[in-house]
Amino acid sequence: MEGKAIHRCLHVIDLEKSLEFYEEALGLTEIRRVGAEDGSWVNVFVGNRTSGFQLELTWNRGRKLPYDNGGRDSHIAFTVPDYEAALLLHEKMDCVCHVNEAMGLHFIEDPDGCWLEIVPERAEFAPQGGIDVLDAMGRRRSVRSYADEPVPDELLERVIEAGLRSASGRGLRPWELVVVRDRAQLEALSACRDHGAGMLAGASAAIVVVGNPDVADTWIEDCSIVMANMHLEASACGLGSCWVQGRMRQAADGRSTQEYVVELLGIPKPYQLEAILSLGMPDAAFETRELDAHLRAKVHEGRFGAHRL
Ligand SMILES: Cc1cc2nc3c(=O)[nH]c(=O)nc-3n(C[C@H](O)[C@H](O)[C@H](O)COP(=O)(O)O)c2cc1C
Repeated sequence: MEGKAIHRCLHVIDLEKSLEFYEEALGLTEIRRVGAEDGSWVNVFVGNRTSGFQLELTWNRGRKLPYDNGGRDSHIAFTVPDYEAALLLHEKMDCVCHVNEAMGLHFIEDPDGCWLEIVPERAEFAPQGGIDVLDAMGRRRSVRSYADEPVPDELLERVIEAGLRSASGRGLRPWELVVVRDRAQLEALSACRDHGAGMLAGASAAIVVVGNPDVADTWIEDCSIVMANMHLEASACGLGSCWVQGRMRQAADGRSTQEYVVELLGIPKPYQLEAILSLGMPDAAFETRELDAHLRAKVHEGRFGAHRL
């Protein structure tokens, strides 16, 4: 059983002041909030794209006495990519409460007196063996049914970024992405296949990946990597997504899927449709899937047929 750190709760006297502090000092912004109907308490979860870890800022109406959220002995640590810039910013904010020059770190104090340790990014702080990627892979699956709510813009941007950061043969990046969010266009897109693309009608967004064969003979592989990376990042962000095959398929009206999509989205020659990623908020949660013996038996050691386990 491996527990995963997801958040730490801090009680705050002035919620707005704390939200401003965490955004300015560490770029943590509101992710979601819950509260009592009568307004007697509010929990605001703040985080940023650097990790899944969040702070739960809890505000209780009428509280005047200071809270004890911990100090030097019991603190939360953050790494920052540019330590010198962080120290300057925190000095400007007048929230630095201790500097340890020998160790190259400092502490800042939040509006309720909680100490936060600030350290430069170092290899020893990285998740051991890239555990976060494997975690996202374990939860990844093709999701074809979506809740009736839009994919937040910042999550869509993350998915797009995952595609743009993809490896490609000789670094030629022969692909282009077309993002579709319009409901009527998504419905039209769902008819790009005689079957297997119906989920696009209920999706909140779709990303169409096209490749230019004149730029790279590896365009199919390159586009597939973009698709796979976006699908995986969608899973890591808690989004549901599914790959819709574009090449060598037929549209509902008898045209090829390529012809149908090229015309619908005004894609110029010589771009070829690779695939479409449908995206939406999943309507169910997914557990990590175990790697079963059948999958493990696909790995051979030294020569085909010699199994490792
Ligand atoms: C190359 C490729 C093409 C796919 N095409 C479609 C498709 O057109 N429609 C669809 O519903 N799912 C499609 N899928 C999703 C697969 O059906 C799915 O990955 C497979 O059933 C395994 O399920 P999982 O992704 O949940 O592990 C495709 C997946 C890949 C990798």
